[in-house]
Amino acid sequence: MSSDLTFKYSLNPEEKAKRFNQVPKLIWITGLSASGKSTLADQLDVALYEKGYYTTILDGDKLRVGLNAGLGFSEADRRENLRRTAEVASMFVSMGFIVIGAFISPKESDRELVRSIVGEAHFIEIYLDVPVELCEKRDPKGLYAQARQGLIKNFTGIGQSYEKPTNPALVFEGEFDLKEAVERVVAFYEGVEEIQS
Ligand code: ADX
Repeated sequence: MSSDLTFKYSLNPEEKAKRFNQVPKLIWITGLSASGKSTLADQLDVALYEKGYYTTILDGDKLRVGLNAGLGFSEADRRENLRRTAEVASMFVSMGFIVIGAFISPKESDRELVRSIVGEAHFIEIYLDVPVELCEKRDPKGLYAQARQGLIKNFTGIGQSYEKPTNPALVFEGEFDLKEAVERVVAFYEGVEEIQS
């Protein structure tokens, strides 16, 4: 039995989102472990919520014990982790939500996959450009230390490379100011701040 993939629904995400007075987007935060992705996602969620927007967070650390349990950190597993996440994000976007994604997503091709699943028009990429030295100094979960000891083979930034995004909407560097970063992402979402160069 074949399914009708060409069937066009009457309501598109933008129409659904009008009820929420918002534009549905996936705000994708990428960067190394300990670069501040979850913290930025959390504070952005709070700021958008307080402004009356409908949001949800998808966080690598959390999805990896639920939906994506069983996936590791090989290139293939990371891609599957991100593909599934993008499919879920896409569903929320189709409901009119603003989704905040916090994933290392170290490969440009995998971020492109996420972008293509959710749709170019719905995708906002935020890059936390925090050097590995600083992330390693923070090391809140002790994972960098384990990677240095050879206990984690393919740890991003040590055993496995991170490809910098080529054209992110916004970049925050080093010990960036969290409050300012939140304000700038909100401003960008609301169309106040333009895409850089
Ligand atoms: S991604 O590369 O597939 O996007 P994701 O964001 O879901 O990664 O998960 C990253 C989290 O998994 C890190 O914050 C860290 O806590 C944990 N982790 C465990 N092993 C690794 C590893 N080899 N590389 C990176 N992160 C790891």
